[in-house]
Amino acid sequence: MSSLADFSEITQRERSLAEWTWLKVGGPAEYLLEPRSVEELVAVVRCCHDNDVPLQVLGSGSNLLVGEAGVRGVVLRMTAEAFGEITVDGTTVTAGAGALLSHVISHTVRAGLVGLETLVGIPGTVGGALLGNAGGRSGDVGQTVRSVTVLTAAGEQFTRTEDELSFGYRQSSINELLVLHCTFGLAEGNVEETLKRMRKLWIMRKATQPMSQQSAGCIFKNPRGISAGSLVEQAGLKGEQVGGARISDRHANFIVTDSEATADDVQTLIETARRRVAEQFGVDLELEIRIW
Ligand code: EPU
Repeated sequence: MSSLADFSEITQRERSLAEWTWLKVGGPAEYLLEPRSVEELVAVVRCCHDNDVPLQVLGSGSNLLVGEAGVRGVVLRMTAEAFGEITVDGTTVTAGAGALLSHVISHTVRAGLVGLETLVGIPGTVGGALLGNAGGRSGDVGQTVRSVTVLTAAGEQFTRTEDELSFGYRQSSINELLVLHCTFGLAEGNVEETLKRMRKLWIMRKATQPMSQQSAGCIFKNPRGISAGSLVEQAGLKGEQVGGARISDRHANFIVTDSEATADDVQTLIETARRRVAEQFGVDLELEIRIW
């Protein structure tokens, strides 16, 4: 049976994760591993499975709050080239889970394809976007997915096709450990018109969201189609500050952080928003971001 010591070349101990999250707060990973190939990734996953070591996969850290205590066990980063390839074959696009969604969007739009452009401005990797079915009011990533190749916690690889997958509001039926790559089915379109649509969406997003500040995007899911941001605003919490974290004045479903912020500051604001919205409106806000 292999042990984590076998992967010392790709391991960092007690490695701070803050710089890799958009909120820039939180503690270290006990073991941070960056596999260089799919084979190495599978070997790490099997090793953790055999040794009962907890394992988390870090994407681009845009939808994540790491607690002050950090993360026990292994955190994997799929940053190697092998995990970020994007290929176009007609209207079918294959992307590695580690590729940034924004790169896939620009790649496909340049290739004259439409289907993903409505996701402009959404941060994150392909893997993270698929797990949480990233999207906005103009569509979500699940609509274009044709197949997803996943890796289970036991290190088994298999491909799930469209008819074996379901995507809902900020959720997907993908429940394996991680996504390796996926294919999108897009359509041919006019590059100029697509760019125009993207510019419009980008301007709207910039006007309504604090895009130039550190944040993790929307903190809460919209409950039953009501805007969580509007509920937090009506609870009087826009601009509410704890330490270096603050509920955005621009959009109350965003928490923005400065260089003094801690994960506890963010957690306190989350709890305050949840409590006040529950007290005033009887609505339990569900987290959209993940907390480690
Ligand atoms: N609103 C307020 N106060 C606020 C924020 C919003 O009154 O502080 C009102 C707006 O005026 C508007 C309504 O709420 O009438 C909806 O606001 P918005 O258009 O900003 O959309 P949202 O429902 O708050 C959703 C997604 C965003 C996505 C936008 C645009 C969720 C939780 N949020 O926000 O996604 O960018 O639509 O498509 O589904 C994210 O998931 O991280 C995210 C930012």
